[in-house]
Amino acid sequence: MIKKENVSHINGLLAGKPAEEVLNWFLNEFEGKVAFSTSLGAEDQVITRMISDIDRSAHIFTLDTGRLFPETYDLIDLTAKKYGLKIKIMFPDAARVESMVNTKGINLFYDSIENRKLCCHIRKIEPLKRAFEGLDAWICGLRRDQSVTRKEVQLVEWDDTNGLIKVNPLIDWTEAQVWDYIRGNHIPYNQLHDKDYPSIGCQPCTRSILPGEDIRAGRWWWENPESRECGLHKK
Ligand code: ADX
Ligand code: SF4
Repeated sequence: MIKKENVSHINGLLAGKPAEEVLNWFLNEFEGKVAFSTSLGAEDQVITRMISDIDRSAHIFTLDTGRLFPETYDLIDLTAKKYGLKIKIMFPDAARVESMVNTKGINLFYDSIENRKLCCHIRKIEPLKRAFEGLDAWICGLRRDQSVTRKEVQLVEWDDTNGLIKVNPLIDWTEAQVWDYIRGNHIPYNQLHDKDYPSIGCQPCTRSILPGEDIRAGRWWWENPESRECGLHKK
């Protein structure tokens, strides 16, 4: 049983190590107890490729909110086939989605932050909690320079909300490094990235950005920057 106290030790052990080494360490030490959650974003595609070189049977899942872009669904399929991996699809509870949209509206998220958070909770957080059953650690694609809400993120940290270790192997990577790796390794990526969508989530809650705008400016753009996290990653 993994303990909160082990985390700073592991962080010290792996600090400054290449992402491949961090992944290798976790996939071995936590075999059967670690999973990678992918949104098929650029960072996640880098991690998927690295994982495929280490262990094609590694546990990888994605949260299908039911409101993703068609381009994202195509990429789920393409990526799994190209790398010979299984990407498990976690789907929200149908009865809860049905009840939510019939009481609050199909596009409820635009009406209030409360509604937006409810939708994220039902479509993402609850399935995420189910995905965590039996796990001690989860791998994510967070980078520190993605947003003001992510400046304090550590390579290895304790996720108090979910009671497990969270690992961010690309924590110190720049956006340019991510793209160099993608192009250098011919990694498939979401076609929307070529249409000014640097950060991609659900279709109704993601727009393209203008030159000079922050890379997460297109996510929940009608809210202020400090509230723009869906609850997967607490500040
Ligand atoms: S979000 O919280 O704003 O949606 P972002 O899109 O930046 O997050 O992704 C950060 C990390 O969260 C990804 O690298 C991935 O590990 C995880 N993540 C985000 N969305 C999903 C999803 N739909 N399914 C699985 N993991 C996800
Ligand atoms: Fe709902 Fe938008 Fe959150 Fe997706 S990002 S779960 S559509 S509120």
